[in-house]
Amino acid sequence: MASKFRLKRLFAKEQISFLRRPRKHWGTHLNLAREFIGSALKNVDLARPALILGAGWGLEIPWRLAPVGAYGWDMDPLSRLGTFTRHLRWVPWVFEDVTGAFAELDRVARRTQVLEGRWVLRPALAAAKRLAGLLPSVIPSTRALDAWIREYRPGTIICANILGQILPMAHRIIEQAFKPRNPWVTDQDMADPLQDALDAWTARAVRAILSTLSQSGSNIYLLHDRGVIHQDADVALGEWTDPWTKQLRTSERDLEVSDPLPGVDVLKEFSQLVCRYKNRWLWPLGPAQVHVVEALVYFPLDIS
Ligand SMILES: C[S@@+](CC[C@H](N)C(=O)[O-])C[C@H]1O[C@@H](n2cnc3c(N)ncnc32)[C@H](O)[C@@H]1O
Repeated sequence: MASKFRLKRLFAKEQISFLRRPRKHWGTHLNLAREFIGSALKNVDLARPALILGAGWGLEIPWRLAPVGAYGWDMDPLSRLGTFTRHLRWVPWVFEDVTGAFAELDRVARRTQVLEGRWVLRPALAAAKRLAGLLPSVIPSTRALDAWIREYRPGTIICANILGQILPMAHRIIEQAFKPRNPWVTDQDMADPLQDALDAWTARAVRAILSTLSQSGSNIYLLHDRGVIHQDADVALGEWTDPWTKQLRTSERDLEVSDPLPGVDVLKEFSQLVCRYKNRWLWPLGPAQVHVVEALVYFPLDIS
């Protein structure tokens, strides 16, 4: 219970600090994102509900285009209210964790701080190694999403910038558990077992969500961070290829990048579905932080 309350507070805090960031250079991204999500909302099958995963406070979502049977899904406890204040619309909402495992991640990360059976703090490095060893037992579960899809049979599911948020939020949960100590290896040339284990855990969670979506029988609209460039470099996007880093055209020799979907290529995961649309763009989120955003549309195979 304490874990759930802590998570809710953390998610609300993160969203508020995201919305407080200067948005001077976000114009192009916001226009493209709203246009993409707007096209999904204009095309929903009115006989079936629509679901927006990661609906947040509706910054990227033109809710005026959404039919009455559209639901929001976001575990930030203020997201529904935030959507109401922005769009004057009280939307039906699901507040569940789509990974089904953040509460357990929080519990396990806190448990590793103390030596078993004693109220003695483990050294941070030892706690991080212990957590790395325990992460494979924190199993992501899309049970809540599966159950919702079975009950409501949505015609359209929109993933509104949530997939690339699983890793940073898992990071924050772990950092909160270690506070004020640092869980990460700071020397960039050294291996970080916890970071590696968290990447593997995130890939598992993202694949579980994609697998549930691909079996939903719904039209799927995905908007997500494909990658992050941690420097202000001249970058253009080349042809689509896996890994995504090969899509970056730049004169820089060593571009500093990170992968929010560790090793998962959505196009490959959805190769059984029909790709109706794909687009990418660069989103300069802040100084030395440029996101590569992917917008994809998939329809189920027509087996009639
Ligand atoms: C980048 S924000 C998306 C912003 C949103 N599309 C908007 O228009 O304001 C990512 C959202 O995903 C939500 N989120 C992240 N991980 C989640 C999870 N495991 N379950 C449910 N919601 C999650 C966050 O609370 C946040 O609102």
